[in-house]
Amino acid sequence: MTDNGDALHLTGGIPLGGTVKIRGSKNAVPKLMVAALLTEEPVLIQNISQIVDTRLVTELLEVLGCTTAQPVDGRLRIEARDVHTAATRDLEYFHVRSRIPVLTCAPLLHRTGHAEVWKPGGCSIGERPVDLHLEVLRAFGAMSERTDTGFKLTAEVGGLKGAVVELKYPSVGATEQFLLGAVVAAGDSELRNAATEPEIIDLISMLQRMGALITVQPGRVIQVTGVSRLRGVSHTAIPDRLEAASWASLALATDGRITVRGVRQADLGTYLNVYRRAGGEFDFSSDGNEVTFWREKSMPRPLVVETDVHPGFMTDWQSPMITALTQADGVTVLHETVHENRLAYGKALQALGAQMQVFTECLGRTPCRFGSRNHQHSAVVVGPTKLQGTNVHVPDLRAGFSYVLAALAAQGDSTVTGVSLLDRGYENFREKLICVGAKLR
Ligand code: EPZ
Repeated sequence: MTDNGDALHLTGGIPLGGTVKIRGSKNAVPKLMVAALLTEEPVLIQNISQIVDTRLVTELLEVLGCTTAQPVDGRLRIEARDVHTAATRDLEYFHVRSRIPVLTCAPLLHRTGHAEVWKPGGCSIGERPVDLHLEVLRAFGAMSERTDTGFKLTAEVGGLKGAVVELKYPSVGATEQFLLGAVVAAGDSELRNAATEPEIIDLISMLQRMGALITVQPGRVIQVTGVSRLRGVSHTAIPDRLEAASWASLALATDGRITVRGVRQADLGTYLNVYRRAGGEFDFSSDGNEVTFWREKSMPRPLVVETDVHPGFMTDWQSPMITALTQADGVTVLHETVHENRLAYGKALQALGAQMQVFTECLGRTPCRFGSRNHQHSAVVVGPTKLQGTNVHVPDLRAGFSYVLAALAAQGDSTVTGVSLLDRGYENFREKLICVGAKLR
């Protein structure tokens, strides 16, 4: 394999085997870092992975006045003693590059009385609006003034007020925004139709250690009583269940045998059931932190896959799984109900020889917001198809891994460009590919 940073030259068609170690969840660690803004005392986050979002949020926290120490062995120390706001153009650099900076709004309103929100830059999986974040912040009493790039928000320092908010959709980001404000808002707050992903529970666990009063009630209701101060904490981030599933799908696709270290079985529950139905098998260590994945059946089995919010089949799990099911002995149906435009990887799979047709109709039973809005969010994949190596370009993070996965399942040589995008979510993924035996051209 040769790699000039943004292009990966692979030779596929070989069953892959080996062991990879994964660390903190890309969708948990950056939020835990933002929570450090809520206290003047030192915060130590462990098990972080050195990926783009972690580096970007570290820089943003420094622009906001925090002191951070260079991460050592996955440990990052943050001290938000003197937090201040920053110039719009400095903040814009971060907000247009990631979905995380918008989460600094609630802590900044509490600490400085000022925050800014940018209209979503959108990304390849959908428009990624922030209307629910604004709804939460306004509910806490923030005043908003439209600007040509989004909104300026103001509130009295330490003056957020508890509120009851009902989300029209259980948004992960909006739930995080709610938690980061409610824990220091005056009085009681309640969020209805809240997201309950493991990454949300991890943020709640850290806030609880910092002194917050948070109760997750049945039926997606989160109740919080604001406290006057939060203290420093040392917290270890949960492992990346999305990366673990990516490596599992690679074993299924290439008929390999891949061991993943540093997982938490409970976070993978729904994925494991789908994996076994797809003809895969797995074996966990007794402590549940290490698991080996392999293809049990001679060929993967076709499935009906519908993504949903937790505890459903996670949207970030679908593209690697569907890519593996191009090798299944029959027809697979996919209904993506979380992001409206997450099937762009279908074009690359077709270029590699897969038979994947996308549809705007809802091909499933899960209620979905996209049916009548002309979004290509369902697909049918006819297998098995022999994938032939070719050149493909990566559109988004999880699809990007699927392109590499498809190239490794294909016979012959492929060049995958745009792979630097994978550095957003997969720490040292080139080295990990070598660990599982991915071959040089
Ligand atoms: C998080 O994104 C994850 N990203 C996503 O993972 C993941 O796919 C998503 O949650 C769903 O689980 C991070 O945690 C950094 P949402 P987030 O708010 O918070 C709509 C990956 O590959 N919505 O739950 O942005 C939105 O358009 C990434 O790791 C609004 O309408 O997701 C989408 O249709 C991809 N208004 C739906 O909610 C809002 O204000 C889910 O979005 C916010 C969201």
